[in-house]
Amino acid sequence: MDLAQLSPTAGTYHFMKEVFPAESYFSYAEFGIYKGDTARHVCELFPNATLFLFDFEENIARAKTALAAHAHRIHFFPNSQRYNDSYNWSLGKLIATNTRGGIFDYCFLDGAHTYAVDALTFFLCDRLLRVGGYMDFDDYAWTLRGSSLDPAHVPQIAEQYTEEQIGTQQVKMIVDTLVRPDPRYEEIVPKKIYQKVA
Ligand SMILES: C[S@@+](CC[C@H](N)C(=O)[O-])C[C@H]1O[C@@H](n2cnc3c(N)ncnc32)[C@H](O)[C@@H]1O
Repeated sequence: MDLAQLSPTAGTYHFMKEVFPAESYFSYAEFGIYKGDTARHVCELFPNATLFLFDFEENIARAKTALAAHAHRIHFFPNSQRYNDSYNWSLGKLIATNTRGGIFDYCFLDGAHTYAVDALTFFLCDRLLRVGGYMDFDDYAWTLRGSSLDPAHVPQIAEQYTEEQIGTQQVKMIVDTLVRPDPRYEEIVPKKIYQKVA
């Protein structure tokens, strides 16, 4: 299957089907779950996977209902809508209490898509990702401009970001400046999936 032809999220679970046997035990973290559609696919495809799901409180509450049948193997991490809150705070607390070293085999980063939030998310995930595990970045070419957050629709965006930032592909910036140059990461699916090799 040509993963480049699939939507980014379908590309995620189709790739996972290629690398994880259906009955395998592994841990999957998703940052930005929205309605939990990708998480549901992961639950259904991998009955022994453990999931760590991060998003705003409202979306986590909805996912708890939608994924109730799988609740015994899902850890939920809600955060508030406060301006400087994000899944990075939840990750920081997880790192603070974690005594087991690497705990994630797969991290799907599909949340803010901004450098201010997700550059840090990459470094925090790296702390928790096992060697051999994967970092998966959604939407390499995404920009604030033209998205549902375009300042034409959401004027606060123009107060929070510069014109340059609004027009910059910020996921691309994270991948190109932080992930690709790191010799511990190997590009597996171009512009999307990187394996931690050391
Ligand atoms: C594109 S949607 C995720 C789609 C989902 N991964 C899927 O495959 O169906 C982006 C999600 O990121 C979440 N998000 C964005 N910024 C966030 C933040 N600062 N803290 C927590 N969640 C955030 C949004 O609430 C939204 O649900």
